[in-house]
Amino acid sequence: MPDVETLGRILEQRGQSQLLRFYDQLDQAAQVSLLEQIAAIDWENVDDLIHRYVLDRRQVALPASIDPPEIVPARPEDDEQKKRLQEARQRGRELLVEGKVAAFTVAGGQGTRLGYEGPKGCLEATPVAHKPLFQVFAEQIMAASRRAGKTVPWYIMTSSVNDVPTRAFFRRHKFFGLDEKDVFFLVQGTMPVFSLDGKLLLSKPGELAVSPDGHGGSLLALRNSGALDDMRDRGIDFISYFQVDNPLVRCVDPLFLGLHALQDAQMSAKAVPKRDPMEKLGNFCLDDGKVTVIEYSDLPDELAEATTDDGHLKFSAGSIAIHILSRSFVEKLTVEGKCDLPYHRAIKKVPCVNESGKTVKPDKPNAVKLEMFIFDAMPLADRCVILETDRSEEFSPIKNAAGDDSLMTSLHDQVRRAAEWLEAAGVTIPRDADGQVAAALEISPLYADSAEELAGKVDPDMTIASGQSVYLGSRGQTGGLR
Ligand code: UTP
Repeated sequence: MPDVETLGRILEQRGQSQLLRFYDQLDQAAQVSLLEQIAAIDWENVDDLIHRYVLDRRQVALPASIDPPEIVPARPEDDEQKKRLQEARQRGRELLVEGKVAAFTVAGGQGTRLGYEGPKGCLEATPVAHKPLFQVFAEQIMAASRRAGKTVPWYIMTSSVNDVPTRAFFRRHKFFGLDEKDVFFLVQGTMPVFSLDGKLLLSKPGELAVSPDGHGGSLLALRNSGALDDMRDRGIDFISYFQVDNPLVRCVDPLFLGLHALQDAQMSAKAVPKRDPMEKLGNFCLDDGKVTVIEYSDLPDELAEATTDDGHLKFSAGSIAIHILSRSFVEKLTVEGKCDLPYHRAIKKVPCVNESGKTVKPDKPNAVKLEMFIFDAMPLADRCVILETDRSEEFSPIKNAAGDDSLMTSLHDQVRRAAEWLEAAGVTIPRDADGQVAAALEISPLYADSAEELAGKVDPDMTIASGQSVYLGSRGQTGGLR
């Protein structure tokens, strides 16, 4: 490692000498640690990022012309589509039986909007058994593995901030019944945090301020952690990617997998029809033949509001961050340990060291965080499938402490979906005068993880009283596994 004089010269040339301001006050171990952090930075790259993303605050340039992409409809519109979806579902089931599918959860985010202490996956998020999000996914993955007679390994991306508590949580809960050797944790990379004028910040006198490099960092993390090698050794060809905050997600969906595989796609996505033109979802677009996601904040109003001849939104497909990635595609994108996704800038409040060496919480945004987004890999794929899906079946994220996309709305949506599945199976559900479900309902994925599976199991004559809490679990399971 270079000595303090050499590093001091490098920092001075780059206008970053503030990083050594408190060096002389640190003990020896802290001095070594700080020098290691500074030496580990790829300064050429960081200088370039500062100029492109921190100092240059121009809007993202939109492509000259964009069109809506082809979307596979959620419900088949004719016999030909019906046949295609049936074949795809069958192919997806075969892939699971052949052991070619892994589940992949990105759980490295900081969850600042939710404000929950600890990794978001530990949040108790179900209406009756109060299962943590990780358990919801673990049970789905276990159910899918049992159904296929083949293990679906589970890869979970954490960050340097939440890796230790996440692993401890799994150990404490005995991996929710999964075999420990089929659960693989990987830690994503970090990025330095910058002041608004492009200086790297210190979080403590001897520590650089860093933040996770975004869910797009998952591609490189899969490679650097050895997860891709592990997948290759296990014969995994398809990675079913989802976020940690959506308890309605289908962790592995045979239909989606089959469509992706039959189309020989490299990266696929699920979409929901946007509720209104300005809904805060990324927009699937076609730019020069390539599927691209344009953030809601970057799509001009006239395009967001444009309609087709039959009055539907022209750009109606919103991204819900559910993807299939072919393993070979991730290998290609990360060859030589580099991944060329663009960065997105977020201006945030980040505690950092002030002039006198004290860590202070700012009262207004003071820092720029840079993150990569997974959807920026889509235009790099030669072939993509976009499958429209039913929002009420598959998407109710927990992002905020209150209001839209909060735990309250998600609990409500989970109960509503359980009620719909039960009603489809012939069970009478108590409802209030407004038609809202008047009971707390929860169906474990180990009991049934679709309306069709439930219909074959549940007694249509079961009675559910108003105000009752009902939990349908696997045999002998009366509540959470905890
Ligand atoms: P969000 O964009 O909702 O970010 O992440 P967040 O960090 O969880 O929450 P806020 O914005 O601070 O409130 C969407 C998904 O991507 C994961 C999150 O864990 C979540 O599953 N993610 C996000 C990562 O794994 N790493 C990151 O660096 C960012």
